[in-house]
Amino acid sequence: MSARGDLPAGFAGRIVDWQREHGRHDLPWQGKDPYRVWLSEVMLQQTQVATVLAYFERFLARFPDVRALAAASLDDVLALWSGLGYYSRARHLHRAAQVIVEQHRGEFPRSSEALAALPGIGRSTAAAIAAFSFGERVAILDGNVKRVLARVLAFEGDLAGAGAERELWSRATALLPARGIEAYTQGLMDLGATLCVARSPRCLLCPVRELCAAAQAGTQERYPVKSRRLLRSRRANAWLELRWRDQVWLVQRPARGVWAGLWSLPEFDSPEDLAAATADWPGKGEALPSFVHVLTHFDWHLQPLRWTLPAPTSARSVARCTAPWPEGRWFRVEAALALGLPAPLRKRLAPG
Ligand code: ADE
Repeated sequence: MSARGDLPAGFAGRIVDWQREHGRHDLPWQGKDPYRVWLSEVMLQQTQVATVLAYFERFLARFPDVRALAAASLDDVLALWSGLGYYSRARHLHRAAQVIVEQHRGEFPRSSEALAALPGIGRSTAAAIAAFSFGERVAILDGNVKRVLARVLAFEGDLAGAGAERELWSRATALLPARGIEAYTQGLMDLGATLCVARSPRCLLCPVRELCAAAQAGTQERYPVKSRRLLRSRRANAWLELRWRDQVWLVQRPARGVWAGLWSLPEFDSPEDLAAATADWPGKGEALPSFVHVLTHFDWHLQPLRWTLPAPTSARSVARCTAPWPEGRWFRVEAALALGLPAPLRKRLAPG
């Protein structure tokens, strides 16, 4: 333990040295460009590095800078986000780009505090952007880093509560190095992602094991302490895949909630409701395999029904079927695949 009360001495220096030697250096967003750092941090909030890599390159190729992103249509942004999930991230990204262009003349604010005022940028994301791009000496505290620090400090506070979280932020701030904030920040992330993992952490390889209160006591898997179990629930809906000629009827989902703003299939409370709606339609229905979409707070069971209207059906009869969704549209399947679609729908519509 250190001269500074209960702070492990030499902690930050070891993280910096370890990052330089063993950390990740070849990630395409590493560098000082705040646009790239921001985009990667937002993509990485709920998605693994391996998945983000391909999306990151595609997104940058299409929107190479913040002005290009601000000028894009939301539909185009969502189309490139399609499959990454948690679409409010993409909506916020688009909004924040517009704010940066309109209110900051296209330049990123340079402090973590100003960055955190932008849509979709929380305290930890703002700190990561400011540390990597502008060298600001500021703490991050994403899920991985919470775990690392809770173990090093044998932090007993219950992170389900805001008080303990505030306390951990201030402990994290007290641990910051005087120099090398970029390597330190990346080092904490890398340690959390590679060695200090949730189950069976690889403490023998860890550069700070002698300083880690939990590792010394052999209690590393007890941390972080988080009492409140996530209450998961179940939802079930029926999905209507309405086909006519080689088209599919899609509706744009509301701006809030699951798959916000994506084009998707009309939804019913139950297969019975769907059956009642289609009872006097021309053509026939075919139940497709049901599936479960796992979200943070619930498992969503979806039972799709493909209803095919006969090709010669009159436009008037077709319009009667689609009347409940006046905001919907017919799309040829190839055109639909260019839209922002929920991943399970894309998989079903894609040929082969
Ligand atoms: N997760 C969040 N930010 C990251 C980064 N910069 N590098 C690797 N993983 C991350």
